[in-house]
Amino acid sequence: MNHTKSLSKFINRTHEIASLKSYLNETIQGHGKTVFITGEAGIGKTRLVNELQDYAVSKNVL
Ligand SMILES: Nc1ncnc2c1ncn2[C@@H]1O[C@H](COP(=O)(O)OP(=O)(O)OP(=O)(O)O)[C@@H](O)[C@H]1O
Ligand SMILES: [Mg+2]
Repeated sequence: MNHTKSLSKFINRTHEIASLKSYLNETIQGHGKTVFITGEAGIGKTRLVNELQDYAVSKNVL
């Protein structure tokens, strides 16, 4: 599923999404990590992960 097309525009969270994309790129190079995403209800945890998922798909990562 492409979340970019189905959801409102992703705003702010530039540091967080940049970090996650960087970690994904390191994972592609063979250096994986475990990342915990925490925050209060409705703060945007799922949306952040959806953005990363779209990026992952664009990199041919399942
Ligand atoms: N950075 C963002 N840009 C645009 N919309 C956002 C952003 N973050 C969250 N939203 C929107 O705010 C709403 C709540 O976000 P989300 O469902 O990701 O929160 P959550 O932290 O996962 O909540 P819960 O704790 O209930 O699981 C959703 O409609 C989501 O699309
Ligand atoms: Mg959620």
